[in-house]
Amino acid sequence: MPSSQILLLELDATSGEVISTTLTGVGFAVETVTDSAEAVRRAGDFSLVIIDQTDPAKSPADVCREIRATPELAPVPVLCIGQTEDVEERIRFLEAGADDVVAKPFDQRELEARVEALLLRFQRSRALAPMAASDGGMVHRVRRTVVAYSPKGGSGTTTVAVNVAVAHAAGRPGRVLIVDLDLQFGQVATLLNLTPKQTIADLVRDEQSQREPELLKTYVSHHESGLEVLAAPGSPELADLVTEASVGRILETALLAYDAVVVDAGAHLDARTMAALDAADTILIPVYPEIAALKAVQALLDFVNETGSISAKTTFVLNNVFAKQILKMRDVENGLGAKVDCTLPYDAFLYHKAANEGNPVVRGAAQSAAAVALVQLAATAFGETVGQADGGRERRGRGLSGLLKRT
Ligand SMILES: Nc1ncnc2c1ncn2[C@@H]1O[C@H](COP(=O)(O)OP(=O)(O)OP(=O)(O)O)[C@@H](O)[C@H]1O
Ligand SMILES: [Mg+2]
Repeated sequence: MPSSQILLLELDATSGEVISTTLTGVGFAVETVTDSAEAVRRAGDFSLVIIDQTDPAKSPADVCREIRATPELAPVPVLCIGQTEDVEERIRFLEAGADDVVAKPFDQRELEARVEALLLRFQRSRALAPMAASDGGMVHRVRRTVVAYSPKGGSGTTTVAVNVAVAHAAGRPGRVLIVDLDLQFGQVATLLNLTPKQTIADLVRDEQSQREPELLKTYVSHHESGLEVLAAPGSPELADLVTEASVGRILETALLAYDAVVVDAGAHLDARTMAALDAADTILIPVYPEIAALKAVQALLDFVNETGSISAKTTFVLNNVFAKQILKMRDVENGLGAKVDCTLPYDAFLYHKAANEGNPVVRGAAQSAAAVALVQLAATAFGETVGQADGGRERRGRGLSGLLKRT
């Protein structure tokens, strides 16, 4: 259960009671203050500040602006309660720096959900806080959630995810997790020659473990490379147990439990996939050189870019799954409408052997051109390549989840 401390700035006792009861009812600790100066002064001691009604001398937006003008309070999210559904009021709050706004009258479950989402979001961004670069002064963001997804099955998504994860886990035993979100027929465990005792289908039945890093770890299998594996359900009928919300929670908590998370998001697009794409710092899209595959990627980009660009965090991987190339790189890039960032060579035998032996190419054939390309891809995906920490393309995208109906 959540135990975060919430500070509520509230002049109206009745309204305060409703908010406080709602949140304490789901396990949050809420402290109410009436004085806005006190709220600003003490905000740093709380996980979240909620501003409802304030003394007329200082409007809620003013208090919010004051909190946001204090650099030390940057890690504390602020939720403002709108007194009406008036758009102007909402905009005023957002302009004042509110991280979210809930308008009255609100459903109690909405308030709970917004609070929970804000806490998770800020918990995560604290975990991803900028790191000082060793060359002094410069800071860059560490990229830690890498999601492999392709709208076309058979593009090499699982191959890419598994090899990138194993490559990144080298020298980081127990600190990298791969999550198999190809929920119906995911084969990450097979490619690693593992027989998992527990899978994501077990984890989704245990909500507490979806929130607590140490408990989440009890659901993973260990690979000899040091990689940890949260396997896909053992049977397709269990796939439906996994919801969009549980995917969000699991990926958030996984980031607290591990230094890095790699996701095989398969080839199916639904709200759960969107939640994974939303959580990603880097999206790897393997594509094979065929017009239909390129068109599928274009359709994907057109679709998701309606709500929030993923282009800024996408790395296109041209996977040569065919022995003979018909399309040239120029055709592929024209078809994609984007630059290919990485090319994986054709090597049917190596991949075939790796899959059958359950030993990924980066381990079983470490000197091969395929392995070298995959190791390089892992470095790029995690922003380790010199000058590519953000690929020069970091843009702020809006949320993607919610675009598809909940599952
Ligand atoms: N560069 C390559 N050269 C030759 N064969 C490859 C290459 N990349 C992947 N393959 C082979 O293509 C097949 C599909 O790969 P993989 O399972 O990784 O794709 P996927 O996109 O995850 O597929 P699915 O949609 O079924 O989950 C596998 O048999 C794999 O060994
Ligand atoms: Mg696959």
